[in-house]
Formats: sequence, structure tokens, C-alpha cells
Amino acid sequence: MKRHAPAAERNREPLLAVLRRVLPARGTLLEVASGTGQHAVFFAAALPELVVQPTDPSDEQRASIAARVEEARLPNLRAPLALDARDPEWPLRRADAVLCVNMFHVAPLTAAAGLFAGAARVLPVGGVLATYGPHREGGRHTSQGNEAFDRSLRDQHPDLGLRDVESELVPLAAAAGFALAERVPMPANNLTLVWRPASA
Ligand SMILES: C[S@@+](CC[C@H](N)C(=O)[O-])C[C@H]1O[C@@H](n2cnc3c(N)ncnc32)[C@H](O)[C@@H]1O
Repeated sequence: MKRHAPAAERNREPLLAVLRRVLPARGTLLEVASGTGQHAVFFAAALPELVVQPTDPSDEQRASIAARVEEARLPNLRAPLALDARDPEWPLRRADAVLCVNMFHVAPLTAAAGLFAGAARVLPVGGVLATYGPHREGGRHTSQGNEAFDRSLRDQHPDLGLRDVESELVPLAAAAGFALAERVPMPANNLTLVWRPASA
């Protein structure tokens, strides 16, 4: 039932440091693509003023999240909801912040477009969308490890692979009204990208 992703253990502390800085002090944090649920539990425990709402489209992942939510017994951690970023309607109509970790490269680019469009629907003026993962930048890989990872993903399916920040994500974000507010280098050649409404 309960799944475990070693990467989520490694990146949770560096991610938390960024989230503490960029998230609102209180309100609802909607997590898209929560996976095993490790991050949702960790961030809910570390940020008790926020209500954390995990989501994932996969039944297996939601079962893992549900098991972790039950075990954690945190008053600010909600049971998982089914959400595919591409859905034209999300199960939550309002959130104060949206977080999405390690989804862009394992889903078709339409999922990234869906994430930006959905975040634009649920966030208030001045809301924040934070994404994390390995990326290409300026059309180039930022490490040999990322390049090999990208190749293995594309071998699995041509629609998968590391997304280029400038040529792929920034235009998709702009189409939904978001601008890249901050690019935070993370361990192991990952990036946290902080997106805010272009007018904010
Ligand atoms: C590599 S896992 C990352 C999980 C978790 N965020 C983490 O960092 O451990 C990718 C997750 O993206 C989810 N996913 C794939 N396509 C998606 C989509 N279109 N919308 C939302 N989530 C999606 C998968 O179900 C999976 O749980």
C-alpha cells in the first residue's frame, strides 16, 4: 500500500527551505502529482499553518498517499483527491499555492500545460505555483546525468523527457498568465521554479 521514493527523502529538506520562503503563511497548499505522499506528510508537519491537499491521478499512488495520511494523523493534511493536471476542471476550486514536484519530465507536455492552466484557475491574484525537477536550460542539458536520464525517458516514450525552461515551460506558463519569478538551483542538478501571475 505505502510506497516509497528515495528521491523524495533526499530533496524534501532543500525543497522545504524554498517553500518556507515563497509560500503564503497560511491557506491551502494544493499538491499536484503527490506520488507516494512522502512530501505531503513532510510539508504538512513542517508547515502547520498551511492545509496540505495531496492529489494524484494514479489509484496506486493515491492508496499510498491515503495510507501515509492516515498514519500521520496531522490535522492540516487532507485525504488525497484524484487530479490529472490536464483535467479541464480540478476537484478543488481554490488554493493559495500550488506545488508540483517531478511531474513535467514523466508526463507529456500537455500535463505541464494543464498544470499552468489549472493553477491559473485555482490561485488568487498574487498566488504562487512552485515546480521542481530536472530541466534543460537554454536548449542544453545541465549535466551528463540529466542527459542520460532524458535519453532513458525518451526511449520509454517519445512524449516524455526533460523540459526546457525557456523554450517549453516559459511559453506554456505565459499562455496561462504566469511568469517565471525565480529559478532556484537545487542539489543533483534540479531546479525549483517559482511561477507567479504575470501581472502580480
Ligand atoms: C516521478 S513521480 C513524482 C511523485 C512525487 N511528486 C515525488 O516527487 O516523489 C510522478 C508523479 O506524477 C504523476 N502524474 C503523471 N502524469 C500526471 C498528470 N497528467 N497529472 C498529474 N499527475 C501526473 C504520477 O502519477 C506520479 O505520481
